[in-house]
Amino acid sequence: MKKLIIANWKCNPASLKEAQNMLVGLKAGLKNNKAELVVCPPFVYLTEANKILKGIGGVVKIGAQNCFWETAGAYTGEISPLMLKDLGVKYVILGHSERVTTIGETNEMTAKKVKAVLNTGLTPIVCIGETLQEREQAEAFGVIEKELKESTKGIHKKEIEKIIFAYEPLWAISTNQGLICSSDDALTMALYLKKLIGEIYGRKTGQAIKILYGGNINKKNAKNYLENEAISGLLVGGASLNIKEFLSIVKSV
Ligand code: 13P
Repeated sequence: MKKLIIANWKCNPASLKEAQNMLVGLKAGLKNNKAELVVCPPFVYLTEANKILKGIGGVVKIGAQNCFWETAGAYTGEISPLMLKDLGVKYVILGHSERVTTIGETNEMTAKKVKAVLNTGLTPIVCIGETLQEREQAEAFGVIEKELKESTKGIHKKEIEKIIFAYEPLWAISTNQGLICSSDDALTMALYLKKLIGEIYGRKTGQAIKILYGGNINKKNAKNYLENEAISGLLVGGASLNIKEFLSIVKSV
């Protein structure tokens, strides 16, 4: 199975020109790539991303960083999964901890978004992770379980198989505490998520589900996380903004 490397640009860069340069740089630097790649720029650059990356035969897919749970209507400021699909988007990151901590999104909101994204035929990437305090108080496993169950509430077996999960401990995100989550700790949580999914949807489903790791990935440590089969890929934040660094991460696959 090919490893999946996803670039989450977050709220960057500040101009279309910079985004174009990043996309052109990425396109030019991809040679003998062995990974499945997804780039998630801000909404306003999605069209441009699709235009620039289409030329390389779908090697890089386009993802969004969020969306709304309705397809259209009186929801000022929201972007629907149907609109994203129309732009050529294939993946949508949902429940990222920055949306939880900065915007106040809840697991219930994530669950509605997951359902809507699946109904539109796009692939949700659902982020799950505990805070430093929760880890220090030995609550990490409980928090992860609650988050998983609440953000996939009402999801059937056929649907769960289409979801990709990303274990992203908040304390390891470069712009939070930026601590290093060891590859062993990342693996433990990936296996724990698989076990929980297995208990609900059957062991085979748990084994097959894709779990990514995200948090402080760089070109030096990327390989460590990818060594184990239970980690299907990486969700890269800060390092994905430096195209040279991101290409090195891709090369380490
Ligand atoms: P960093 O790679 O900057 O730690 O961010 C991780 C992340 O939040 C990806 O979604």
